[in-house]
Amino acid sequence: MSKEIKTIGVLTSGGDAPGMNAAIRAVVRKAISNGVKVKGIKRGYQGLLNEEIVDMEKHSVSDIIQRGGTILGTARCAEFRTEEGQNEGVRVCRKHGIDGLVVIGGDGSYRGAQALSRKGINTVGIPGTIDLDIACTDYTIGFDTAINTAMEAIDKVRDTSSSHERCSIIEVMGRNAGYIALWCGVANGAEDILLPEKYDYDEQKIVNNIINNRKRGKKHHIIINAEGIGHSTSMARRIEAATGIETRATILGYMQRGGNPTCKDRYYASIMGAYAADILCEGKSNRVVGYKNGEFVDFDIEEALAMEKDIPEYQYLVSRVLSM
Ligand code: ADP
Ligand code: F6P
Repeated sequence: MSKEIKTIGVLTSGGDAPGMNAAIRAVVRKAISNGVKVKGIKRGYQGLLNEEIVDMEKHSVSDIIQRGGTILGTARCAEFRTEEGQNEGVRVCRKHGIDGLVVIGGDGSYRGAQALSRKGINTVGIPGTIDLDIACTDYTIGFDTAINTAMEAIDKVRDTSSSHERCSIIEVMGRNAGYIALWCGVANGAEDILLPEKYDYDEQKIVNNIINNRKRGKKHHIIINAEGIGHSTSMARRIEAATGIETRATILGYMQRGGNPTCKDRYYASIMGAYAADILCEGKSNRVVGYKNGEFVDFDIEEALAMEKDIPEYQYLVSRVLSM
């Protein structure tokens, strides 16, 4: 029988994502309504090690559901990857009476949570990343806002690209995952969509595609390039040299991580935040919350981290057919 949970902590870790604030709000308010105290830990695991810990009340999370970023701040913390760092994390939790911890972040952050739970601190993870690359869940907080931000920006680039009859390479985020590129590629009607999971690095195919499209009278050529493919600027130079068509690269960058979360991100974050608080208050540990087949569910972290995710083949094939 697990010991009674009196106080839980909440932190955000890794890359920020729109909707993290809605998740923090839900964790705080649901835990308090369950009769459990909440402490906010600033700057992810780095803030835990630095003991940057504040009491959270219902009003501490007022007026944040609509805001991008994370009010707690986030960080990447190399020290937490070490045994010493993790032992220090456990010591700080115990010192501050933190019986359980909600970690909002990506896969890396889950590994930190897993390490703490192995050392006796109850942990629950919430998927917070714009990349949609966590295998145990069909949805990750921030994805919807990021793709809508990127889609609107790509529409704007397309306008000027058509006016000037140029080719445009637009790089979207996703170091290891092509979901943002796939969704925007389809939604923006891109002519080429380059995903880290699928790209064969044969640039000649793209060049041929551009030349053929121009012959057919197309005024623009939009290439959506996932960050994991990279080299957008040099690719633009090579394509211009090979096709004789003016080619420009636009790297959308961090604008995709910011901005007011969409309704979908606020909603998923709110339900996942409440769910995480509930299972932690019940004394569960080493769990991650997810959304699978239309339901909010939780998995063992080990099981979740062992799962694999790939670009769905049918969706990828459709993206190629529609871009013809
Ligand atoms: P994300 O959570 O978005 O995947 P990172 O991979 O950068 O982002 O991980 C966020 C933080 O989680 C890292 O800076 C580190 O503090 C912690 N972390 C990552 N991997 C591990 C690990 N294997 N063991 C312990 N902590 C880890
Ligand atoms: O995890 C989200 C993400 O935006 C990735 O797509 C990107 O590769 C990474 O974060 C960049 O993170 P940073 O530059 O903040 O370390």
